[in-house]
Amino acid sequence: MTFGHPRRHFRRTGSTNERARELVEAGAPSGTVVTAAEQTAGRGRRGRIWAAPAGKALLYSAILRPLGARHGMLPVAAPLAVAEAVEAVAPERCEVKWPNDVWIARRKVAGVLIEARPPEWAVIGVGLNVSIQEGELPADLRWPATSIGHGASVEQTLKALNDRLGEWVEAPRDLVLAAYAERDALRGREVAWEGGPPGSQDGRGVAAGIDPLGNLVVELESGLRVALGAGEVELSAG
Ligand code: BTN
Repeated sequence: MTFGHPRRHFRRTGSTNERARELVEAGAPSGTVVTAAEQTAGRGRRGRIWAAPAGKALLYSAILRPLGARHGMLPVAAPLAVAEAVEAVAPERCEVKWPNDVWIARRKVAGVLIEARPPEWAVIGVGLNVSIQEGELPADLRWPATSIGHGASVEQTLKALNDRLGEWVEAPRDLVLAAYAERDALRGREVAWEGGPPGSQDGRGVAAGIDPLGNLVVELESGLRVALGAGEVELSAG
């Protein structure tokens, strides 16, 4: 799969995910990428906003269509691609914090927001801080933010992401799970959540990896294990 052709770039727009969805409706092909130097209504997960100073973050939305069985691991594969893209442009090591965040040294450098209408299409939205100075970073007390740094540029990072995403969106499940396990920022750490499945709506326990569907497995004090879906729970620091 090749991402980045065609590419639509906006100097300033509301949300690249929104522009990409419009392009989907207008028949844009799989692989189309929308970028912006600045967003005025950047969307984060769970209704949050995504803010970044103009020109200093990669604000990226890629169209993938149609969605087939081979894309079943997309929510896990996309942050892996982001992690590899960061490592391609800077001497840093990234971890993935379930479900969609990418961390450098336990601080969030990127978030992924996938909006999809299976089996028709997915828009893979990535907000990746590239050259934001410490004082310009949005204050997110939940998971403090960071930036790639090291003189990396947004365009260079874009190329790396197109390349790595092209590989990972079609990677087989076992490869995705193995790569995730190598980068799992939560494994062995205490996590707390709200809004889980009946019987474990709220709770805390120790993260024990993900299951083959991409759910977070948490071991409770009782020894029982629960699987939490990305769409249903809100993690807080353990
Ligand atoms: C998150 O961590 O909550 C996910 C953030 C995703 C932000 C990106 S920025 C580019 C794309 N357009 C949007 O409106 N959101 C995503």
